[in-house]
Amino acid sequence: MTQELSRESFDRLDQFISKINDHEKASSLIKVLYEAQEIFGYLPRDVIFSIGEKLNVPTAHIYGVITFYSFFTTKPKGKCQIKLCLGTACFVCGAEKLAKDMEAELKLKMGETSEDLSFSLEGVRCVGACGLAPAVLVNEDVHARVTSKDIKKLLRPYRKALKMNETGSESSE
Ligand code: FES
Repeated sequence: MTQELSRESFDRLDQFISKINDHEKASSLIKVLYEAQEIFGYLPRDVIFSIGEKLNVPTAHIYGVITFYSFFTTKPKGKCQIKLCLGTACFVCGAEKLAKDMEAELKLKMGETSEDLSFSLEGVRCVGACGLAPAVLVNEDVHARVTSKDIKKLLRPYRKALKMNETGSESSE
């Protein structure tokens, strides 16, 4: 299961790097990694090696930086990234059961991504929406006071959108 790394994506990254002055290249690593993750969705091995060559930075150092910042990931994420808040307020309001039921519904454990790269599931700390506990983020959307019986309904529009993207047409429901 590998996500395709397109030539266009590499070209976009090369263009970004080419705008950086030579004497700033080594100090621009984080900026370049950030851009690369925006383009590819994660930081694949080939991309890391390419960045190392272009910035003249050892790959071991790049992996060190990636490991240090939890924002960076070397694993592909799903198109729908579900983040379940497991902070105190959400926990008290039932996030633990919600997490178990969400795992069962998606057939994923926390931290996993589905084989088809549709969904990623992650438990996170307080997302700053304690008044909406238990809170669930799906990409940029915040879902408030989610209970186990809401899971199917919550996922429905995302599943529908994924299906439409797959078939390239509107599904009738
Ligand atoms: S604890 Fe969940 S939003 Fe704050």
